[in-house]
Amino acid sequence: SATPGASAEHFAPSNIALCKYWGKRDTELNLPVNGSLSVSLDHLGSRTRVEPIDGETDSVWLNGTQQRPDSRFAKRVSAFIDLFRIYHPEQAFRVTTENNIPTAAGLASSASGFAALTKAMNDAFKLELSDTELSVMARMGSGSACRSLFDGFVEWQMGVREDGMDSYALPLEQCWPGLCVGLIHVDENEKSVDSRAGMQRTKETAHLYQSWPMQAAADLSKLQQAIAERDFALLGSVAEQNALSMHATMIASWPPLLYWQPDSVAAMQKIWKLRAEGLALYFTMDAGPNLKLLFEDASRGAVEAQFPGLEVVQPFGI
Ligand code: PMV
Repeated sequence: SATPGASAEHFAPSNIALCKYWGKRDTELNLPVNGSLSVSLDHLGSRTRVEPIDGETDSVWLNGTQQRPDSRFAKRVSAFIDLFRIYHPEQAFRVTTENNIPTAAGLASSASGFAALTKAMNDAFKLELSDTELSVMARMGSGSACRSLFDGFVEWQMGVREDGMDSYALPLEQCWPGLCVGLIHVDENEKSVDSRAGMQRTKETAHLYQSWPMQAAADLSKLQQAIAERDFALLGSVAEQNALSMHATMIASWPPLLYWQPDSVAAMQKIWKLRAEGLALYFTMDAGPNLKLLFEDASRGAVEAQFPGLEVVQPFGI
């Protein structure tokens, strides 16, 4: 059993899905309808520290600002810590998270934040959970957080069990030196419909969603092939079509869910034009207006010339 809490601090990377997690088969346990595959963003992510404190409520700090205890974020963090607090329900924590993801990149930080918090709580209560168990726990905080436990390419196996113990992420063995992810900033405002609500609405109201699980399964195996053969055109085209298919199911929901802004569409059209001219450049997008570019190191100069100020990450180095 666990010993009373100690201080602990951990970093976890943000991740970008090439085959998206979209739709839950269990909303309590965050069990997905489909498997997904991502690449972690190396040094971009969250550093989270937990310290046991006296008192009855947790104190939650995000990027230097204390969050009101009744705020959605603080409640979500406390409810997540409750999962670890089973042996010491009375122990409160001060939780401090710093995201080094440039806010201008418009990247969600819940995946890296819950992954870093999971590792910190594991140390705080000396639970000595395995990587797989840590991934299961992180999944309960935010689905995509189960993938942020690992570097490089990561696959989240959907699992079949009702208790979710076989729904966790695993790192793939392959690496891809020279692979680049570019972050385009369209808008950093908080999205009006978060991914939890967006998934639910899509699953409940979009007939188009019925075809999503099959598409995701097919895309997942094509991505595995692309990674094994280091076939960039296959990787990029599957990732882009997967993201647009997910957005198609969102648009087909009611009320409609359109995360794109005019600048998002302008960026897509620019990418398609550059690609038609011979540049090997693809994109993916999550539940927001910002695009994430996919290209290889050989094209980096050409891409940066087209998108000034682009934040570029090389998950596997050069
Ligand atoms: O982990 P959540 O609940 O924030 O969902 C993430 C959903 C997407 O970002 C749209 C897709 C993904 O696989 O990351």
